[in-house]
Amino acid sequence: MQDWPGLIEAYRTWLPVSNSTPVVTLREGATPLIPVPSIAERIGKGVKVYVKYDGLNPTGSFKDRGMTMAISKAKEAGCEAVICASTGNTSAAAAAYARRAGMRAFVLIPDGYVAQGKLAQALVYGAEVLAIRGNFDKALDIVREVSDQYPVTLVNSVNPYRLQGQKTAAFELIDALGEAPDWLCIPMGNAGNITAYWMGFQEYHQAGRSRTLPRMMGFQASGSAPLVNETTVTDPETIATAIRIGNPVNREKAIAARAASNGAFLDVTDEEIIQAYKLLGGHEGVFCEPASAASVAGLLKRKDEVPAGATVVCVLTGNGLKDPDCAINNNDAAFHTDLEPDLGTVARVMGF
Ligand code: F0G
Repeated sequence: MQDWPGLIEAYRTWLPVSNSTPVVTLREGATPLIPVPSIAERIGKGVKVYVKYDGLNPTGSFKDRGMTMAISKAKEAGCEAVICASTGNTSAAAAAYARRAGMRAFVLIPDGYVAQGKLAQALVYGAEVLAIRGNFDKALDIVREVSDQYPVTLVNSVNPYRLQGQKTAAFELIDALGEAPDWLCIPMGNAGNITAYWMGFQEYHQAGRSRTLPRMMGFQASGSAPLVNETTVTDPETIATAIRIGNPVNREKAIAARAASNGAFLDVTDEEIIQAYKLLGGHEGVFCEPASAASVAGLLKRKDEVPAGATVVCVLTGNGLKDPDCAINNNDAAFHTDLEPDLGTVARVMGF
């Protein structure tokens, strides 16, 4: 098997890069598309369900797809520092790729609302971390101003190269399935990823790589659902901190993708998210973070509408290891603690 070169080399002709672009890569992309029969069984009707496990990217989330492009282009432009606001995953990816490129990385995060694994990554990758007393939306306002006024490149999804990189996930789906799925289920925060997938599906479709286009099904957490409710949420709240966003910057593009694809948006409660999260971990051996499980929770909530025989892909945007607190507090495991260290005790607990 040939070594995977990373998504810029793999999809070079589809991306805005030239021979003089220095490619900053951690060999992101080529993530597995995994069948999840226990989810399909709950829907029935001969439906096939897969998860696109983007939590297996180098920093554990889909953000690496966008960041390899954003940082390569920033380096090409001679930039020496980047900045982003983040609920955690963007900051981890920005830090890793920026540092690899020899740039400074400044990340603004909502103090106390970033999962432990993500914070650990930003610190280890050598970012300069600024935790603000405010939410993601406030942090994004600030970094936009900073990048307007100082020589620092913004690498949030308002940076068009981010979406260019992220669209490659749609290419991978079509390359794997032979054509687009019927439904693409995806969690939405700032709504960059749904926008990027739609771009990728359209480009491959126009080039004749897929006869069909999917319905874009976007899901948000009920306490943080500005797109579903067509509003701005000033105090978003959800266990899925990755998508705790009240004022998505890519709102218009996501709405356009929904309209053009005959898609739909729906919210899922934290309880529904955790149910799906446990189902994926406990029945399929796939550990994702809570925000990612929103895609499966949403699919299950809309299962009556899935056409018989349809192929559905749910995007699992981030790795479960990102948020160990959520995992430890939300599982049905048999966890026996404080046991005497002897055979009798162990055998008894095992039921022998
Ligand atoms: N899933 C995960 C795990 C995320 O980290 C994010 C966004 C999303 C879904 C939503 O994607 O914003 O493109 O609609 N995380 C950003 C961050 C906001 O800062 O890491 P989106």
